[in-house]
Amino acid sequence: MSVRISLPEFLALPDAEKVKHVGQRSILFAQQFDRADLDAYCKLADAARALHKTPEGASRMAGLLRHRMALNFFVQPSSRTFMSFNTAQAYLGLNRMSVRDVKISSISKGETLVDSIRTFISYVDLVVMRHDQDDAAATAFWTSLNSHRRITLPNGEERPVPIVSGGSGSKQHPTQALLDVYTIEKSLGGIDGRTIMLVGDLKRGRTVRSLSYLMREYRDVRLLFAAPERYQMLPDITDFLDAHRVSWKKVGSIDEGIREADAIYMTRIQDEWDAKPADGSHAPADDAFTFRLRHLDAMRAHACLLHPLPKRDEIEEAVDYVDDPRVMYWRQERNGMWMRVAILARLFEVHHEILRG
Ligand code: CP
Repeated sequence: MSVRISLPEFLALPDAEKVKHVGQRSILFAQQFDRADLDAYCKLADAARALHKTPEGASRMAGLLRHRMALNFFVQPSSRTFMSFNTAQAYLGLNRMSVRDVKISSISKGETLVDSIRTFISYVDLVVMRHDQDDAAATAFWTSLNSHRRITLPNGEERPVPIVSGGSGSKQHPTQALLDVYTIEKSLGGIDGRTIMLVGDLKRGRTVRSLSYLMREYRDVRLLFAAPERYQMLPDITDFLDAHRVSWKKVGSIDEGIREADAIYMTRIQDEWDAKPADGSHAPADDAFTFRLRHLDAMRAHACLLHPLPKRDEIEEAVDYVDDPRVMYWRQERNGMWMRVAILARLFEVHHEILRG
């Protein structure tokens, strides 16, 4: 099937309409997942982790996608998304290459993103990408859908080369949202009925935006938005939450919400979207939205402290040196690798091989 509309028409569609085109053939939007998908991804990530524990299991996993080639097209800075996708691809046996610097690709000669993607998918079976433009992943998806190249799945189905967004502009980071859900599930034993406090730069934080979309799929979740007014969550997200009856409220500090929260999700000020100061310094976190050592005393006994990372001063450094199982962000980072194994296995329909153990 191919989209019969032009790229500008496709990009002008509301996200809810774009999601219908994407289905599960690519990963661009958090809104494309329903509860069954989320539960299945978490189960699969657990199964991948368990299978990889033995040399026999790891070896079998490494045979699943040995015939496939991936491109990691990351032209915006990344450490863990890039590395965890690379590791997940290696665990599944995928061959891989990367483009990380537009200066050494033909993009620097003025090639459009559409032509670049068309070129990439001539050679590879998967594009994982990070880009500073909000529409970049959707543009890549449209290009793949409208090219002649197809991959054949184990069941014989032919599909366009999948596009996976590893972060697109300031709007979406869907695979991060999947790993965040996985981490909250593992920490709390479930998300239904929980209160999750999102802290920091909610306006430009693509991780908290994508995670908020996923909360539609859980029952009786409450979101607390802890941010200075200039970084508060944008109306497109709060309207979405209202439309889907997800409860949310703004809080004026970490202290105001910490006793209610089952999960506290910190984010840094996303100042890469601001003009760079001449001295190269970073915008400091407001004191009211900085997680300090003393906050561990106020946190609920079962709660978890999350961060998509990288972090700066929004978490006091001393928190890293406390042996407290509620400090979850380093384990959250590693969970991301297993979630990305699950994502790739499902895209290529080899997940049943992992689930059978
Ligand atoms: N969480 C996250 O996206 O980290 P990187 O920017 O290091 O990939």
